[in-house]
Amino acid sequence: MAYTIAVLVGSLREASLNRKLITEMTKLAPDTLSFKFIEIADLPFYNEDLETDTPPAPWTRFRDEMKDVDGVLFATPEYNRSLPAAIKNALDVGSRPYGDSIWAGKPAGVVTASMGATGGFGANHHLRQALVFLDMPTLQQPEAYIGKVQDILTDDGVVDSSRDFLAGFMSQYAKWVETFKG
Ligand code: FNR
Repeated sequence: MAYTIAVLVGSLREASLNRKLITEMTKLAPDTLSFKFIEIADLPFYNEDLETDTPPAPWTRFRDEMKDVDGVLFATPEYNRSLPAAIKNALDVGSRPYGDSIWAGKPAGVVTASMGATGGFGANHHLRQALVFLDMPTLQQPEAYIGKVQDILTDDGVVDSSRDFLAGFMSQYAKWVETFKG
C-alpha cells in the first residue's frame, strides 16, 4: 500500500527552485510513497476572529486536503535566516481550531534549498522548532540543506552527482513513514 504524502512548498513564486527540487525528489522516491502537492498561497493570514462556523474557504480547503494524508514533506527556502511567512501561516492555519490540529502524529521530512552556500539551515531549524510543538515526528538523518541549488538542477532533472544523496533522503523518509504508519 502506498502512503500519501502532502508536499508543502514554502516559496510561492512560479519558478521556485525549491518546488523544482522537491518535484525531482518525488520522482526518486520509493513507490511506497505517493505525493500530493497542497497549495498554501491563497491562505489568508491566521486570525482568530475568522475562526467562526464559516472560516475562510481556503482554510477549509487546506484543512480538508491535509486531513487524510499520512505524512508531510516540507520544501522551503530561507528568508532572512528563518522560514518564509507563507509556510508558518500554513502551520498556524492547520493547527486550529484548538484541539483539531491536522499535524499531530504525521511523520515529517524537511528539505531546504537556497542559491547560497548555507542551504537554508536557519529555515530548516526554525521549521523544526514548530514541528516539535505540533507533535510531528521529523526525520533527523539525513539532513537536507541544499546549497547552490541552481547548480544541481538541470532541464532534465538533477545532476548525476546529487542523485544518490537525494534518492537516499527519500528512501530514509519512506522508512520513517513506515515506522509510524506501518
Ligand atoms: C532570500 N534568500 C535567502 N537565501 C539564503 O540563503 N538565506 C536567506 O536568509 C535568504 N533570505 C532571503 C529573503 C528573501 C525575502 C528572499 C526573496 C530571498 C534567497 C533565496 O534563498 C533564493 O531566492 C531562493 O532561490 C528562493 O527559493 P525559491 O523561490 O527559488 O524556491
